[in-house]
Amino acid sequence: MASVHIKTYGCQMNERDSEAVAASLVARGHVLVPNEHGADVVLLNTCSVRDLAEQKALGKMRAVAGHARLHRPSTVLGFLGCMAQSRAEELVSEVPGVRLVLGTQKAHRAGEYIDELLSGRTGVVVDTAEEEGSQSRIDAHLAAGPGGGRDARRAVTAFVSIMQGCNQHCTFCIVPFTRGRERSRSIEEILGEVRELVGRGVREVTLLGQIVTSFGRREIPVRDGRSGFVQLLDALNDVEGLERIRFTSPHPKGYGDDLVEAYGRLPKLVESAHLPLQSGSDRILKAMHRGYTRERFESLVGRLRAVQPGMGITTDIIVGFPGETEADFLETLETCRSVRFDNAFVFKYSVRRDTPAATMAGQVPQEVIEERHRRLLDVINEIGAQRYDALLGKTVSILVEGPSRRNAARMEGRTRCNKIVVFPGAPRHVGTVMDLRVERVGTFTLYGDPAVVGVADEQQLEETNA
Ligand code: 5AD
Repeated sequence: MASVHIKTYGCQMNERDSEAVAASLVARGHVLVPNEHGADVVLLNTCSVRDLAEQKALGKMRAVAGHARLHRPSTVLGFLGCMAQSRAEELVSEVPGVRLVLGTQKAHRAGEYIDELLSGRTGVVVDTAEEEGSQSRIDAHLAAGPGGGRDARRAVTAFVSIMQGCNQHCTFCIVPFTRGRERSRSIEEILGEVRELVGRGVREVTLLGQIVTSFGRREIPVRDGRSGFVQLLDALNDVEGLERIRFTSPHPKGYGDDLVEAYGRLPKLVESAHLPLQSGSDRILKAMHRGYTRERFESLVGRLRAVQPGMGITTDIIVGFPGETEADFLETLETCRSVRFDNAFVFKYSVRRDTPAATMAGQVPQEVIEERHRRLLDVINEIGAQRYDALLGKTVSILVEGPSRRNAARMEGRTRCNKIVVFPGAPRHVGTVMDLRVERVGTFTLYGDPAVVGVADEQQLEETNA
């Protein structure tokens, strides 16, 4: 039995992969520890989307390896995830002490490799090969532990990986190289996993994939005008005991009428969409190889809001893509003002090796990127604040996830349109859906008062006032 620490960088797909690895290690008798100090095995699950993310993981591993060399030379140090996939052997020589490099299709092998490394049978393992069917191997979940906090939250919501890979080849993006071609699981397999999660108390699932709207594109024939992805949503909507369905990330191109209409038809599909815009300039969108124009993106938002007026819409935007002029950037600002996103991740363009954009003319100077990043964030924050303020005094329905991350004496949950609400609740509310009146609005957080709509009882008031 070894103590294992796993640190995760990057997206929800990585979080999910780490959880599956953790569950498989626990099943082999190992124990998880919350930090690297004294751990027998330290795994970093890495992100390659921007150079900064890679540098962070490399810096961390160098520090861990330096310490291990002096104090615990037997420690097994390993890289998983996208940087492991794209750099492979290079990482073993770059960070002395690293003995395991596992690619994105090999995470389920972590257990057997780690046992070999711990026993001394093997010195170093680098495995980044493709593996048929690997998309179906991200299915193990950690059992919810006692004691609330993160564990309790896990028990209410869960990530479910439905597909892997991406065939889009946006010119800025390294993901097709690190995650491979699109491969989907079967609807039956996913249903089985979700039913099991619901049996353990999970009420909300977030379906994950690099490009979920491509789910089943080759494997599942369109039926009654419905794509494989919409057929999956239909099937999940019928799972008894499941309350809510979310998904991320879709491609705006993947929003056919069948998916737009699903938001009006399927009660469990929440009114929330993360729609990566990337740029508001048609010229830049074309150079990015995104496959839509600003007008088509805006019309998609209009179609979604026609079906669900309260839809929460968030996005990803890159500033400083090669060739982006001030005029292009102003179009991005205008698009943000016209769409009115609830929130956005704003990324500074980062050169990724082997991508077409890396060698495009017109690379934007770093200080211009920084300046555009600041200006865009100001607009995103201003509009986001207005959209959150508009909920003041309104009644929202939240699924209670657990103690608030900021203040453990309070509880928190999310609205269907994906806004965090903090309120004075009790542990017994975890997993329930409650109506709350929004009494105060903070920065991208709502504060709710259950008493106003009469859901607080004497006992709860005693607990919360204690
Ligand atoms: N530079 C900056 N941001 C990037 N993203 C992807 N590739 C790059 C890059 N080379 C951003 C995109 C994507 C998000 C996950 O990361 O906005 O939607």
